[in-house]
Amino acid sequence: MDKIIIRGGLPLHGAVQIGGSKNDTVAIMAAALLIPGKTVLHNVPRIKDVYTLSKIFCHLGAATSFREDGALEIDATNLTTSETPHELVRQMRASFNMLGALLNRFDTASVAMPGGCDIGARPVNFHIRGLEQLGCKLNLEHGIYTGHVSRFHGADITLEFPSAGATQHLMIAASCATGTTVIENCAAEPEIIDLAMFLIACGARIEGAGTSRIVIDGVDELHPAEFTVIPDRLQAGTFAIAAAITGGDILIKNAVVDHLRPVISKLEEAGVDVSHTPDGFRVRRTGKILPVDIRTMPHPGFPTDMQQPFASLLCLADGVSMITETVYESRFRYTTELARMGADIRVEDRTAIIRGSERLTGAPVTCTDLRGGAAVVVAGLAAEGETEIDGLGHLDRGYEGIVTHLQNLGADVTRTGTYQV
Ligand code: EPU
Repeated sequence: MDKIIIRGGLPLHGAVQIGGSKNDTVAIMAAALLIPGKTVLHNVPRIKDVYTLSKIFCHLGAATSFREDGALEIDATNLTTSETPHELVRQMRASFNMLGALLNRFDTASVAMPGGCDIGARPVNFHIRGLEQLGCKLNLEHGIYTGHVSRFHGADITLEFPSAGATQHLMIAASCATGTTVIENCAAEPEIIDLAMFLIACGARIEGAGTSRIVIDGVDELHPAEFTVIPDRLQAGTFAIAAAITGGDILIKNAVVDHLRPVISKLEEAGVDVSHTPDGFRVRRTGKILPVDIRTMPHPGFPTDMQQPFASLLCLADGVSMITETVYESRFRYTTELARMGADIRVEDRTAIIRGSERLTGAPVTCTDLRGGAAVVVAGLAAEGETEIDGLGHLDRGYEGIVTHLQNLGADVTRTGTYQV
């Protein structure tokens, strides 16, 4: 079994170049299924979720390949089936967005209930309700949704919660619908804006992405485009927290500061110096870590994905911090792993109460989910002695080359096993 071994205690120094966003890439890849022709995507991370989607595309008859210049080419001209391979679909969440895309190419398509990180119930009812409003008939049998529609029609949709996935899915589905679709109470994450930019580059007519109201005027068809994925704000945030916990000083390059404001603001409150640079930001900590309270919220609030590594930082704060998770009902499984390293964390319902201590000690721990994996890596960098991390399948879904990046920043970290994406 693959493991990451960290001998903690070394402050991170140097610079790290942030790669493309996972959550943006997987949404754009699903959207590329709408388009007969060759889509070219730059800045795509080489992570497991991208390879899983590529395997699904291959099954559907779409060809995907990384070019020599690193760009990902997706040729979805000749889709041969709209039945997705369910065991692959279940390995990730964003695969569900293929349903709306495929139903623009076929009258019928089927996609299994998606998988992804185990951080709560994660139903797909907003997706289903929205697709139905767009005119689709759906039924669920044996864990598989099958949809039927000859062409989506525009609709007024109000989401119960600003779900990132449902917003992306409905934008994809409505791009080639007849008439106008309005999505109210939609998500406003940078990845939503970027998906809209991609679809617009392909000929879609979309306004309002980045606000709580998106308006989509359906077009008859989209054309292929060449597009660059935005930098991964969650990867950038993870490295920023890693620098902070180790008392390091690093440059985070190719990051969009605007996408990270809530995280940067909490880092500053915790006593970390953050300064902007032309292509990112510098993170430095010399003083002690101060306790802070965090409440996760949909964008532009504090991202739920970042509460996990941030908790590791707060384990070493000079006082008591509270993290309240409002987006997912059970995104605290990783805290039992941090407890193995000496963290004092009590979880009550949706709040984690963290009593900071002077030290963490290395221990065998596991990645409970993707960002839970980031939490134990970050903790291991600051812990005394050796931290041995397994369950790396989660980490590999979202962090490209994390071990190499950390080694380049001066961390004592190695990976054992025969990792292959
Ligand atoms: N929800 C429903 N019904 C739905 C859809 C969502 O009840 O039909 C609930 C979810 O259960 C959750 C909340 O709404 O409680 C928000 O879920 P959302 O749909 O926004 O999340 P997602 O699209 O499934 C994406 C990211 C997650 C990130 C969330 C929140 C991808 C592939 N995943 O998930 O990323 O945590 O948005 O920002 O884009 C990660 O990167 O580690 C990760 C889990």
